[in-house]
Amino acid sequence: MKEARDTVGRKKTPRWLEAARRRQGPVVPGERADWLARALGRAGVMPRAEAERAIREGRVELGGRVEREPFAPVHAGQQVRVDGQVRSLEAPLRVVMFHKPAGVVVAGTDPEGVGTVFERLREVLPGELQGHEWFAIGRLDRDTTGLLLFTNDERVVQHGTSPETHLPKRYVAEVAGRPSEEALTRLREGLELDDGPTRPAGARLLGPDRVELVLTEGRHHQVKRMLAAVGHPVRTLHREAVGSVVLDVPVGAWRQLSDSEVSEGLGFRTDATTAEQG
Ligand code: URA
Repeated sequence: MKEARDTVGRKKTPRWLEAARRRQGPVVPGERADWLARALGRAGVMPRAEAERAIREGRVELGGRVEREPFAPVHAGQQVRVDGQVRSLEAPLRVVMFHKPAGVVVAGTDPEGVGTVFERLREVLPGELQGHEWFAIGRLDRDTTGLLLFTNDERVVQHGTSPETHLPKRYVAEVAGRPSEEALTRLREGLELDDGPTRPAGARLLGPDRVELVLTEGRHHQVKRMLAAVGHPVRTLHREAVGSVVLDVPVGAWRQLSDSEVSEGLGFRTDATTAEQG
């Protein structure tokens, strides 16, 4: 896994470590580092922004003392209380599929006021899943519909979005014109885009103007750019599957993935991946 780097390529110091150094607190070698606000979000106690507020308001105790630093390092076994109640920081790994409608953005901010997938997901999640901080595993364009996965664990995001994982993503595009066998061959063999050559892709015709494309990388607007490069601009785009996890809920609906869908369908195993610390 890549280490977090700053804009000039230096290794970034994780924020929990900066906070520990500021207060000269203990830094336990080899321990999986976490910081308070993030741990609360991952464990489903409350989403990260809410946790930061609660911490600054003095509502959170760590190891028996009020903690006002959202980046305070948290160690296994430390007791956490929120509003006087002991809360567990055990974080079950959760991954959910969501059927993204057209018109909403996969972004935390929404300057155009069109709505975000995070808002849409929260509208339909049950109470017991509302406390998690949800991360989208990759992005879909505003007008793209289909399978979007969310998780409470950033390691799954890293796994699902890294080109090194080679996780296949299956799309169906309606395109302008009728792609020829030659166009499909170019897609299959890989073609040159302005940010470099693409990997070979799965490509087949499902109808005169419907193309199925399977990619193992996830570059910006990649499907649209590949199809435009062979002379068939995309009219509509839908994602059907990630790994062997196939979208099977209606538009705007969600469901939780089983453990085997996460480990076999997405190829994510907790013992095989280490967390991005920072
Ligand atoms: N490729 C695109 O061009 N757009 C998407 O939304 C996803 C993949």
